[in-house]
Amino acid sequence: MAQYRALDGTPNDWHLIHYAERAKGGAGLVFTEMTCVSAQGRISPGCTGLYSDEHERAWKRLVDFVHAETEAKIAIQLGHSGLKGSTQLGWETSDAPLLTDNWEVIGPSQVPWSPDNQTPREMTRVDMDRVRDEYVRSAAMAERAGFDWLELHYAHGYLMSSFITPLTNKRSDEYGGSLENRMRFPLEVYRAVRKAWPDDKPISVRISAHDWVGADGVMPQDAVAISRLLAEEGVDLIDVSAGQTTVEAQPVYGRMFQTPFSDRIRNEVGIGTLAVGNIYEPDHVNSILMAGRADLVCLGRPHLADPYWTLHAAADLKYQGTTWPKPYLRGRDQLYRLKARAETMSGKV
Ligand SMILES: Cc1cc2nc3c(=O)[nH]c(=O)nc-3n(C[C@H](O)[C@H](O)[C@H](O)COP(=O)(O)O)c2cc1C
Repeated sequence: MAQYRALDGTPNDWHLIHYAERAKGGAGLVFTEMTCVSAQGRISPGCTGLYSDEHERAWKRLVDFVHAETEAKIAIQLGHSGLKGSTQLGWETSDAPLLTDNWEVIGPSQVPWSPDNQTPREMTRVDMDRVRDEYVRSAAMAERAGFDWLELHYAHGYLMSSFITPLTNKRSDEYGGSLENRMRFPLEVYRAVRKAWPDDKPISVRISAHDWVGADGVMPQDAVAISRLLAEEGVDLIDVSAGQTTVEAQPVYGRMFQTPFSDRIRNEVGIGTLAVGNIYEPDHVNSILMAGRADLVCLGRPHLADPYWTLHAAADLKYQGTTWPKPYLRGRDQLYRLKARAETMSGKV
């Protein structure tokens, strides 16, 4: 989840501590925030990048720590902000242009995110070559930094997502129009990244499975078609998110609200999926997995509130199979003891 704490794209001690704590807290797999393939591709001036040697060194230090001290795997999420770039930090006015020092933004068409945002420059084929090559450069850096998994961020209205949805892709060339055409550039980027990324390491693609505007935008059945095209190219898993592709969206929120899209993609396309979105109790996680609605479950905000969410959830379930950091074992023992005592006192056992 975007931290908005980087300077010139370089992850620093904030990121080391932030991600390492989640890895120490029992998560099986930790995803980085959207890490941008170029300076222009950043959402905000605080976004992390992977386009210089300094970025690569800083990420390697972080990845090495996670591997040395925890059992967690760590995934890099690569993205390009496109028409949602050059915007303020998340806790300022999110998605609004910077007050000063804006940079040029690009997109499939001259469709701005909102009337207040810059109108993107329509990408030429030369721009597409450059962006594709930036993705490839970042993927090679991610491999050298030791990441276990690579995710392409094709959701939430950023560059690749803005090609996929007809709401922002108004092109009349072979990159616009039908779904096959709108997927042409995102698939080209995936293919190029796949060649630069080791065969034995997975690639997931995060998509917005619903634009939440009705039939003019992407609907869940379109998400099945999008996922099928990605699966045919060899994508390993689809990370099923939704929305954030237009200011007109009318999302229907609720507990596990995006899980039905994961369920549908997994079971209609036959590809592995990650479910995400308002999943916050161990029972949610276990029921999604047991019912075959996803292969992995991601928790975002619960991990902002509690880096040790997984270890704490396991303690609530009296599950002994987790690995705590060795220096914390006495804390673990006390936690389990106190939970057992609280149960006895409440008369539950
Ligand atoms: C502060 C914040 C930052 C986020 N940054 C990212 C990001 O960098 N990449 C991404 O794919 N999603 C991002 N998201 C979306 C989350 O990954 C997640 O899909 C969303 O919060 C819903 O899941 P949750 O209910 O578990 O939080 C962000 C969300 C929040 C609240």
